[in-house]
Amino acid sequence: MVRATSLVTAIAALCAEAAADAPSADELAWVLTAAEPRATVVGDPDVGIAAVALHPEGAYLRLLAVHPRARRRGHGRELLAEAEAVARAGGAPWLQVGAEAPWYLWPGVDTAELGLLCLLERARYTRVDSAWNMGVALAGLPHDPGGWRVARGTDRDAIDAWTQAHWVHWGAEMLRALALGRLVVTSDDDGIAAACAYGVCRDRYVGPVAVRPDLLGRGSGQAALLGALHRMRAEGHKHAEISWVGPICPYVRVGATIDRILSIQRKDLTVSRG
Ligand SMILES: CC(C)(COP(=O)(O)OP(=O)(O)OC[C@H]1O[C@@H](n2cnc3c(N)ncnc32)[C@H](O)[C@@H]1OP(=O)(O)O)[C@@H](O)C(=O)NCCC(=O)NCCS
Repeated sequence: MVRATSLVTAIAALCAEAAADAPSADELAWVLTAAEPRATVVGDPDVGIAAVALHPEGAYLRLLAVHPRARRRGHGRELLAEAEAVARAGGAPWLQVGAEAPWYLWPGVDTAELGLLCLLERARYTRVDSAWNMGVALAGLPHDPGGWRVARGTDRDAIDAWTQAHWVHWGAEMLRALALGRLVVTSDDDGIAAACAYGVCRDRYVGPVAVRPDLLGRGSGQAALLGALHRMRAEGHKHAEISWVGPICPYVRVGATIDRILSIQRKDLTVSRG
């Protein structure tokens, strides 16, 4: 039995060879071995692995990677079939790649990953949606408007109540960002006005970003967003990636462009096909 830390180290080494945008060992440790629901990992990191997580509504493929020296010998197809078997055994009606909230390494399949897109197409996955990631070169940031602060442990109950009241699906990410010291907030007379998390699953990812619903559409998230981006720059990042964006305008305003579009794909596991 391989210990979790050595498994993560081996998967990080595999990803460094296999994926254009490889996650670090720390990022993998959280997403593959700590985040709930916990991923089931199949395969051998010397050749290739797949990681699948069962949610109440269906299953998600968190990672699939085959070492470049072992490609085009059927390993990818086999690993995907094993992931589907895990999903079926857990009662999942479908297996999806991408849009797995709240914990993920990629919000979908990068359209540059042609091998993975072809494998999924051959395995009868269909494109159900897309996720847009926007990038910001931190050297050219607009000036820091101030008016924000980094949330502290004593803010935990307020952040929890705020997300429960307004943005319940982002609560877990906001609280993890808080625990990591990576949650920037602004306040007004009515309490928390905006919050911007960064470095939650991947160090360079920004998000979720949220404003109190009564402030929507007024640029009220800019100070928290810029605060987070300035902190990232101060921490040594050159580039930030705002992951899986909803509206794009708030990010265009701070100089972001659309970096990549990721495809979200799903296979219905209830239909048996020959
Ligand atoms: C996608 C990937 C897993 C495929 O692994 P593999 O072991 O080479 O796949 P297989 O040999 O089982 O290929 C099965 C089928 O997929 C398709 N396929 C796989 N790679 C392909 C490529 N580069 N171009 C076109 N089709 C490809 C083919 O239809 C292939 O069947 P064939 O060889 O009979 O033509 C591998 O290329 C990889 O690890 N890519 C990086 C994945 C990544 O970015 N992961 C992170 C996000 S989850």
